[in-house]
Amino acid sequence: MKKTVLATIFSAGLMTVAGSALAAGNASNGEALAATCTACHGADGNSPSPMFPKIAGLGENYLYKQLQDIQSGERSVPEMANILDSSSDQDLQDLAAYFASKTTQLSGAKDDELMLNSGAKVSALALGEQVYRAGNHETNVPACSGCHSPRGLGNAPAGYPRLSGQYAEYIEKQLRAFRAGERANDGEARTMRSVAEHMSDAEIKAVASYIAGLH
Ligand code: HEC
Ligand code: HEC
Repeated sequence: MKKTVLATIFSAGLMTVAGSALAAGNASNGEALAATCTACHGADGNSPSPMFPKIAGLGENYLYKQLQDIQSGERSVPEMANILDSSSDQDLQDLAAYFASKTTQLSGAKDDELMLNSGAKVSALALGEQVYRAGNHETNVPACSGCHSPRGLGNAPAGYPRLSGQYAEYIEKQLRAFRAGERANDGEARTMRSVAEHMSDAEIKAVASYIAGLH
């Protein structure tokens, strides 16, 4: 008797943890729901235009969290207003599973010359690689590779998104939004706001160009 009660409590506890923190979607159900997404994000999540982020292969937990945040308004995405209004929590998990299962297509990096505050000119890819791999000790910018992985693949179980192959324009926009506090769905730890708040415009542009080609 005692054993049964304990076993029930234990499995109920596990279900709560899994239900609140982790996505458990069904990719083929998600494929059927994804028809409303393709106009902007492409049929397989590789958006044809840099106006829309690629969502293929970003990681199931990350995608699920963003869909929850966009649905609740915690993350403001005006282009997606009302699209998720009638989606159930299971729908969000299924959509996340579907797009997570798709392969990201690389965009390719393009090099530019950037002007630093000092007036010196540098190659965007060289500065971007330095920021990505080493951060900036003088201004307290941490290395991106520590969380997003050396090849930009992220850390799917931890919900650190894949960055590799994402459009530079979108990366730049997100870093600016975190820096300005306009995107604030990175939790009480302010993980990305505290990374971006110390970055210069040149560092943001440079790391965004570098990430587009990183793989
Ligand atoms: C009318 C265009 C449009 C449609 C349709 C649309 N989205 Fe989006 N979506 C966007 C834009 C624009 C952004 C990025 C906003 C920003 O810059 O923060 C975005 C962002 C996202 C993100 C966050 C990506 C990231 O890297 O953090 C996810 C996930 C997402 N959309 C999933 C979906 C899903 C799933 C659907 C279908 C149910 C959908 N979207 C339909 C325009 C659209
Ligand atoms: C301590 C871990 C950590 C470090 C260091 C870190 N990130 Fe992040 N990053 C995260 C997490 C966690 C998120 C997702 C936040 C959320 O849930 O919306 C994220 C999200 C992002 C996004 C948004 C991705 C998308 O698809 O919308 C970009 C862009 C990004 N990080 C770039 C960087 C860059 C560039 C650096 C280095 C200068 C960096 N990050 C350093 C943890 C980190």
